[in-house]
Amino acid sequence: MLNQIKIGKSAVETTTLGLGTNKVGGHNLFEGLEDQDGYEVVRTALDSNIKLLDTAYAYGYGRSEEIIGDVIKDYDRSNITIATKAAQDVNHDYKPNNNPEFLTQQIDHALKRLKTDYIDIFYIHFPDETTNKAEAIEALVKARDAGKIKAIGVSNFSLEQIKEANADDVIDVVEDHYSLVHRDAEKELIPYLNERNITFVPYFPLASGILTGKYAKTDSGKFNQYSQAEFDQIIDAVEKVRGIAESKDATVAQVVLAWYLKNPNLGVVIPGARKAEQVKSNVKATAIELSDQEYHQIDAWFKF
Ligand SMILES: NC(=O)c1ccc[n+]([C@@H]2O[C@H](COP(=O)([O-])OP(=O)(O)OC[C@H]3O[C@@H](n4cnc5c(N)ncnc54)[C@H](OP(=O)(O)O)[C@@H]3O)[C@@H](O)[C@H]2O)c1
Repeated sequence: MLNQIKIGKSAVETTTLGLGTNKVGGHNLFEGLEDQDGYEVVRTALDSNIKLLDTAYAYGYGRSEEIIGDVIKDYDRSNITIATKAAQDVNHDYKPNNNPEFLTQQIDHALKRLKTDYIDIFYIHFPDETTNKAEAIEALVKARDAGKIKAIGVSNFSLEQIKEANADDVIDVVEDHYSLVHRDAEKELIPYLNERNITFVPYFPLASGILTGKYAKTDSGKFNQYSQAEFDQIIDAVEKVRGIAESKDATVAQVVLAWYLKNPNLGVVIPGARKAEQVKSNVKATAIELSDQEYHQIDAWFKF
């Protein structure tokens, strides 16, 4: 059995390793995706005892949720944690909309696409600029009281917006950008979440593949968010991790995922996958034991 975690103050219990599904049906975000691969990715995750599926309306504008809805019909729903998100307003150029009525409608639409009668975790995917955040959250509290969702989340909110939304301490989970190469959340966000019993779900844990060890310094052009010097530093650190991976007969990605799984500040780790083989490989991270020394070494290698 994979390790389990309780989500915030909710009754949702799930595995600490989940599946990111933006490459399941996310045709608007990535080129060359095949729905068939998406179906296999989700099935493989569930067959590997991964419980949490992290999806969103934005992944294929509902397609990812539809694929998940098709797959889960063949499984025991009570063993699956569906986390989905919404905010993008199709009638306004997909701009974020946190209006309470709009969010309520989005929950109903997601339930239909997922072909289920409850969503375990619902996140407001992005903040808008105008809606009072406590009012937006009130819509989620009502949906929770009606049994349509089980846990309340926000994503891509600044710390100030999270505090405004969490005025009544009802937020269970926050999903935000965090990985060994993107550690801003350690400064202020994570301490606040720990203090308020809010689970943290980091997204981009493999830095979109860089932390799998499959890229070299010459691939920097594929990742234009980094200068060549920054990319070189990251690859140097990844190559150090490769030493630990080889000593354990493991892959770099498995060791990186094991580092997150050992990190007490992180709730559920949700690596994405394009192919079922990647899921099969990533789930083996749950069998890797990092010593405290290895954990601290990796931590230090990625403090640039
Ligand atoms: N809340 C938000 O706003 C937000 C934003 C972004 C993501 N997310 C969520 O977070 C999840 C994770 O982020 P992500 O999927 O974008 O990035 P990621 O987890 O950092 O990287 C995943 C990608 O790395 C590659 N990969 C995975 N396992 C591999 C393996 N074993 N060997 C080689 N390559 C491997 C695959 O891409 P290739 O095969 O194409 O290289 C895969 O799609 C998403 O799926 C989504 O659910 C949420």
